[in-house]
Amino acid sequence: MFQKEYTLIMVKPDAVRSNFTGKILARIEEEGFAIRAMKRVRLSLAQAQEFYSVHAARPFYGELCTFMASGPVVAAILERDNAVLHWRDVIGATDPAEAKENTIRKLFAKSKGENAVHGSDSVDNAKIEAAFFFSGLELAGQ
Ligand code: CMP
Repeated sequence: MFQKEYTLIMVKPDAVRSNFTGKILARIEEEGFAIRAMKRVRLSLAQAQEFYSVHAARPFYGELCTFMASGPVVAAILERDNAVLHWRDVIGATDPAEAKENTIRKLFAKSKGENAVHGSDSVDNAKIEAAFFFSGLELAGQ
């Protein structure tokens, strides 16, 4: 029996711009996730750099942060059994060219950089990322 678990997800600027938010939210609910908190927000460049600071040494960091600040994202905390791994299965590989059929990135992503959605890579990072977007009050009762 799995414990209930949380993950932090984003609909990235490319998918928001392309009006895929509704389809992605529908898929979230079809997959059995409960949306526990959600907001649409445009990150500043400094906020994008902070969110992705773990990737600061990577060659794509600058491009990634500029893209993530290029328009609004929709961030949400999702709850489900095995939430972190299940969401990563649903979104598919980072590069949409390698993503399996019917994954969100196969359906909606443009490229490795503009890849439609984000998902936390661990339960510990989900907590850090949830606290980045949502205040104590918004997290209360989650
Ligand atoms: P995400 O799951 O949000 O976390 C890190 C992000 O870095 C990843 O999705 C990609 O969007 C991005 N990324 C990874 N590799 C590359 C790359 N080679 N070029 C541009 N962006 C990348």
